[in-house]
Amino acid sequence: MIPEITLDMVRVTEAAALLSSVYLGRGDKEIVDQRAVDAMRGILDLLDMRGTVVIGEGEKDHAPMLAAGEHVGKWGEEDPEVLIAVDPVDGTRLVANGRPNALSVIAATERGKIAPLPTYYVDKLAVGEELAGSLDINASPRENLKIAAAILGVKVSELTVTVLERERNYPLVEAIRNVGARIKLINDGDIAAAIATALPDGGTEIYMGIGGSPEAVLAAAALQCLGGEIQVKCWPRDSAEIEKTEKSNFKINNVYWTQDLIKGEEVIFSATGITDGSFLKGVRFTHSKAITDSIAMRSSTRTVRRITAYHEIAYKTITTKTGGEVYIFNSLMGKRI
Ligand code: FBP
Repeated sequence: MIPEITLDMVRVTEAAALLSSVYLGRGDKEIVDQRAVDAMRGILDLLDMRGTVVIGEGEKDHAPMLAAGEHVGKWGEEDPEVLIAVDPVDGTRLVANGRPNALSVIAATERGKIAPLPTYYVDKLAVGEELAGSLDINASPRENLKIAAAILGVKVSELTVTVLERERNYPLVEAIRNVGARIKLINDGDIAAAIATALPDGGTEIYMGIGGSPEAVLAAAALQCLGGEIQVKCWPRDSAEIEKTEKSNFKINNVYWTQDLIKGEEVIFSATGITDGSFLKGVRFTHSKAITDSIAMRSSTRTVRRITAYHEIAYKTITTKTGGEVYIFNSLMGKRI
């Protein structure tokens, strides 16, 4: 069991959210990601664990750190071995454009496994506890929505389905419209959208559609702690990805469930809001403080903690990998005090 690192994981996502949020709306998604990665990597190395990144910064991030296979933590002889999945910023464009719904996210598991999905995208279907075990990603949206409405005791028109707004998801959007459910289209940030299905105040019952594979694994960690479920199918973009999938342990037509994506004696999940979202507020600054909202969960107890932290800007330093300890506002802009 690794309960002692749950709150440390919150410090990791808080640090990434704090440093990246300084660049809100500045139009530069690379710097948003870089600052989050640097902070996340720096704080992870302070922890007493033998950590290995399984899901890290991917091909679209161009980040020099937190790649799959990288070791993080102090790696003391007695330290527990921990597998890690990270998304320092889910929604880098959202932060760069000052838009809502961006999170910093980490998941960790001891004596477990994390699936390195072979394709860049997967088709996803995520739901909360009441619908877990009842829907089928291979069924049509019509069938799934009818079943969901019957189980929840509402009309199909009262259901809200969240979909990532991408051309590849337009046929799905059309199919949902034809059945008459409400649709929430999001620009980015589908980890938050999948998790929202399992929260009472999440504002959506179902998340569907094709999105990033690492994001599916991170959503699976949270949904496992919340009693929800995610089903995914590999969605290869081209023949190279088909070949890669065929050579891997995954099969193109198989459905992979929550516990196929991440499992262990303990799964820990933490997310901190960078910009306001459906269940976490983003980082906000007062004259003297930076305020963060996080959610932290453990699968073994299914305890869900919501943590609001008040960081004194004049005192708070964040240990980064490349620059050592930095103040929130001197991450590039000159010390605040
Ligand atoms: P990044 O912030 O890492 O770019 O991810 C944002 C995101 O919207 C994810 O939430 C989603 O799964 C993925 O991108 C979809 O990928 P794409 O933008 O290529 O359609």
